[in-house]
Amino acid sequence: MLRRIDVDGLRVGMFVCRLDRSWLETPFFRHRFLIRNRKQLEQLRAACRQVTIDTEQGLDLPPAANITAEELAPAQLLVAATEEQAHSLGRELVTAGGAHREASGVLEQVLDDVRLGRGVDTQRTRQVVKGLTESVVREPSALLCLTQLKTRSRYAAQHSVNVCIFTLVFARHLGLPGEVMHDLGLGALLLDVGKARIPVEILDKPDKLTPAEFALVKRHTLYGRRILEQHGVSDLVLEVVSDHHERIDGSGYPRGLKGKEIGLYARIVGLVDVYDAITSARVYGDPVSTLEAMRLLYQWRYQQFDHRLVEKFIQCLGVYPAGSLVEMDSGEVGVVVRVNARNRTRPVVRLLLDRSKRPLAEAPLVDLTRPMEDGASMTIGKVLDPLAWQDRLGEMWNEETLAANV
Ligand SMILES: [Fe+2]
Repeated sequence: MLRRIDVDGLRVGMFVCRLDRSWLETPFFRHRFLIRNRKQLEQLRAACRQVTIDTEQGLDLPPAANITAEELAPAQLLVAATEEQAHSLGRELVTAGGAHREASGVLEQVLDDVRLGRGVDTQRTRQVVKGLTESVVREPSALLCLTQLKTRSRYAAQHSVNVCIFTLVFARHLGLPGEVMHDLGLGALLLDVGKARIPVEILDKPDKLTPAEFALVKRHTLYGRRILEQHGVSDLVLEVVSDHHERIDGSGYPRGLKGKEIGLYARIVGLVDVYDAITSARVYGDPVSTLEAMRLLYQWRYQQFDHRLVEKFIQCLGVYPAGSLVEMDSGEVGVVVRVNARNRTRPVVRLLLDRSKRPLAEAPLVDLTRPMEDGASMTIGKVLDPLAWQDRLGEMWNEETLAANV
């Protein structure tokens, strides 16, 4: 007999034949299997809300049992620990906010300098990358939250700073050494510096570019390399700037490199560049949600990117990265403040608006892996576009309030 049950009722020995999530949102690659150990059990509980079991191929539900106070205790401890972690994130957001503003300011200056034919102040640029790297090492969620405070203007600087932040967070996840992280961050921040040599009318053109215009835009990688070669930056930085549009299947530019002909660092930044571009509002397109972006990257993983890096990047950011604005199935709106390492689909969320979309006086912090007081568990219904919600969130959606709220 097929029986749909809450994951809390699962036991080792049960045969699972259907999940309530897409496999992409779980660690499983099959939807039909016998639960053989506690690890699988915990993974299922972490990833799903309900599953269907086949009682002819495995165990059935045992008689109903009451949950004991001892079983509830760890949940309460976890919520307390989460509040403590959230406070430290709030403190880091204040420092990260300063580093973020400085990085945007320095990058705008760099782009202006290049437009006017002046040199690049690499010393100041290195300094801001150092600040961003230190913040990411201390607490990656703080700068990740700030990547979500996007505006429709100043796309170029905003995009480069975000690519730098996502790259640093990814580098930390990959366990790359500090000096590599720093150079990788510098390359990511300066990845499109060559665009300052291309007319703004072409870069901001909402219509399709002509072949000649597209050929010119493609040259930004070469221009960038040439500009930075004069400033004694490392080969790693040059590789990132010149090769971040190369694609694994050879369809990229400027050289049409294939596979491992593209260096690891250019492969990393190329992937992050696309992720931030498709999740941002640009002159020629509306942003896709973080979840949709993950799906697209996964779909393109063999043609365009290093598939192992795509998988690790999804693991790193989670389905709902810190800073994502989300709406619960029950209607509340909140911001993701921390990804649960054990369960990418159930992060910790600070609720900002109630079910009727009115601001909550005391914004509660909810760990979605834990049941609420009434025993039900809250789940994310969809990811919202912060730009579309800016008016309704008002003062709740800026750096200071986020720092106070997370
Ligand atoms: Fe680029």
